[in-house]
Amino acid sequence: MSAPAVESVLTETPAALSQELKSHTAAAHMAAEDSTFVADLMGGTLDAAALVSLLDQSLVIYRALETALAAHTGHPQLGPFIDSKLARVAALEADMAHHHGADWEAQLADGRIVIVPATLAYAEALAAMGRESIEFLLAHHYVRYMGDLSGGLIIARMVQRHYGIADEGLNFYAFPEIEKPKPYKDGYRELLDTTKFSRAQKDAILDFAAESFELNRAVFVDLDAARKAAA
Ligand code: HEM
Repeated sequence: MSAPAVESVLTETPAALSQELKSHTAAAHMAAEDSTFVADLMGGTLDAAALVSLLDQSLVIYRALETALAAHTGHPQLGPFIDSKLARVAALEADMAHHHGADWEAQLADGRIVIVPATLAYAEALAAMGRESIEFLLAHHYVRYMGDLSGGLIIARMVQRHYGIADEGLNFYAFPEIEKPKPYKDGYRELLDTTKFSRAQKDAILDFAAESFELNRAVFVDLDAARKAAA
């Protein structure tokens, strides 16, 4: 009776990377979701300017992320994840023009559009680590794009309801080339699970993903502090 049990222990299939990522980052996800800025934004106690400031930060972050990713499109492990259907920079630039006007790029350059320190730190990390670590980049790819295809869609619905922001200013949350997020996310998880990574690579991806949530949470903390300082 005991032989099959021993055998099943010895041959136990390791958890799939998609599952490991989800469980390894579950606490960090809750912390990000529960951060004051996100909770207030979702609860309707902020205003359209708060959402616009979040979009401003997102532009700086995605410019750094997508610039770093563009250098790795041919990488055998990371390359297949990089998909123009996910790209957010053009959508964010359209949102910038909608909210700030045609000269938004000048406003960003001279500081009229405020970028908080945590955003700059996040963008710097993406530029520096993105050059040398595909595990780092995959972790950030997962946290940002899977998040945008999940909670991002909920955030869009809520801010539209609370603050009456027009669709033309919420391109960031729309994926016109991805008809249904669910099958896309299923395909993404399958790619995570079928791509061959060493155990050391997987461990690095898990740790970088948890760290990515922290870098994102730090942006929410700074946005909350900036609002309170301005009030
Ligand atoms: C109000 C804030 C948020 C809400 C309501 C929310 C909600 C959700 C929901 C419902 C899912 C599950 C989707 C599914 O299994 O198909 C999800 C997944 C996810 N979210 Fe969030 N989220 C929020 C904030 C964030 C933030 C700030 C990040 C990262 C910066 C993030 C990253 C992710 C990721 C990476 C997943 C995919 C987990 C997986 O299946 O592996 N979320 N979110």
